[in-house]
Amino acid sequence: MKDILIRFIQDNKKWDAYGKVGRVLMGLANEKGEVFGYCGGQLACTTCRVYIHKKYEALLEPPSEIELDTLCELPNNMKFPERDYVKRMSCQLKCEPKLHGLTVHIPSTIC
Ligand code: FES
Repeated sequence: MKDILIRFIQDNKKWDAYGKVGRVLMGLANEKGEVFGYCGGQLACTTCRVYIHKKYEALLEPPSEIELDTLCELPNNMKFPERDYVKRMSCQLKCEPKLHGLTVHIPSTIC
């Protein structure tokens, strides 16, 4: 099967990455960006958060209860207003064929 294209944007930097189906987006993003992910995908740190335009929201697997709880603790990011973007933990998102071409915004800081 063809690798899945994910487009990442962080500050003024844009790059394309290709991942096998099932690959976690956090690892893919960390190849060239700085998503961090201090807890290694345990939903304990929020440093892997990313923002995805709402037009793609229906393509995303819904967050688990634990991810939702974690997301609720995050302050709003003025650069990615909630009316236009959904925030997700990139350690919980996996490459899937329906996400081919997805654009993922990585915040410039984890604070
Ligand atoms: S890596 Fe810590 S919440 Fe995703």
